[in-house]
Amino acid sequence: MKNSAFVVDKNEDGTFTSGIKEISVPTIGENEVLIKASYSSLNFKDALSSVGNPGVTRNFPHVTGIDVAGVVEESNSADFVKGDEVLVTGYDMGMNTDGGHQSFVKVPAAWVVKKPSNITDKEIMIYGTAGLTAGLSVNELLNNGITPESGEILVTGATGGVGSIAVAILSKLGFDVVAISGKEEKIAFLKELGAKEVILRKDFDSENKKPMVRERFAGVVDTVGGNILAEALKAVKYDGVATCCGLTASFKLNTNVFPFILRGVRLIGIDSVECKLEKKLAVWNKLADEFNIDSLAELTTEISLKDLPEAYQVLLDGQAVGRYLVKI
Ligand SMILES: NC(=O)c1ccc[n+]([C@@H]2O[C@H](COP(=O)([O-])OP(=O)(O)OC[C@H]3O[C@@H](n4cnc5c(N)ncnc54)[C@H](OP(=O)(O)O)[C@@H]3O)[C@@H](O)[C@H]2O)c1
Repeated sequence: MKNSAFVVDKNEDGTFTSGIKEISVPTIGENEVLIKASYSSLNFKDALSSVGNPGVTRNFPHVTGIDVAGVVEESNSADFVKGDEVLVTGYDMGMNTDGGHQSFVKVPAAWVVKKPSNITDKEIMIYGTAGLTAGLSVNELLNNGITPESGEILVTGATGGVGSIAVAILSKLGFDVVAISGKEEKIAFLKELGAKEVILRKDFDSENKKPMVRERFAGVVDTVGGNILAEALKAVKYDGVATCCGLTASFKLNTNVFPFILRGVRLIGIDSVECKLEKKLAVWNKLADEFNIDSLAELTTEISLKDLPEAYQVLLDGQAVGRYLVKI
């Protein structure tokens, strides 16, 4: 069997090179599963791994890809048999465990989810980790009492993978979505996804000295962190909820206690990587059903392994729009 993989190598001088290589098909051990990959996707973390970011990957040579869908080729676990349609997102896959950008992927069975039957492997990889994260974020708003009647929801980094899917899911559920984006030329795209209003990042991302501003948003799905999240928190309405999953702007959050102690605002962290398999499965089932959006095709750029370097650069430059689907 041939195993074509996108491999990142660390050179002796500390620099990194990457490209497609034929590598051996992994041998599975106890409680491990070998997946014949059909699709993967691209996430910001993959882009960081591809340039040797030590916060993501320290073991080289390394195969990128934190998402994969496919069919079980071989199983040493009682939970899976050859032919099962499965997917894996997160855990250590694509970080220091070889990832989904190869034909055959070896993972512990404990990371594997059976694909819901009412969604294809292609659709589920368009969602990928970004969609799972958007779904987890929307779920937290719903579980904490935010309804379309509560008021507007702000989505930051709105044209990115997590942001664009969050805009579309929230709009499908009947929420009035206000999107923040740095891309003036993508206002029409965001409105097609369901945003009611688009605020340009430059008009929102200025440090306001006031500890709070006029109450506006019932909820926030933040994907960028930094000053944008800090300013968003100041505008959350009484009893509102903000979720925080990303750091594209900054990992820093310089805030104050007033929104929390005077308006009862709740800030909820989202982790799609290590969260329990049951929690992932519950959101995958929702993404296959009530969260399933009509605009997947408009969001998607389909590529193959040879296109990864160019796509990684777009992600690293903060210019990504929607989702990259990787055909293996
Ligand atoms: N916690 C988790 O489990 C989890 C899971 C997935 C992703 N994440 C994190 O969530 C973040 C978003 O992921 P993603 O896959 O959506 O990334 P992405 O596709 O690269 O999108 C990020 C978006 O952020 C906006 N942006 C770019 N530079 C910015 C800046 N300097 N300041 C403010 N906004 C900026 C851009 O959208 P606009 O031009 O429209 O503003 C960009 O498209 C990343 O930090 C990622 O690591 C976390």
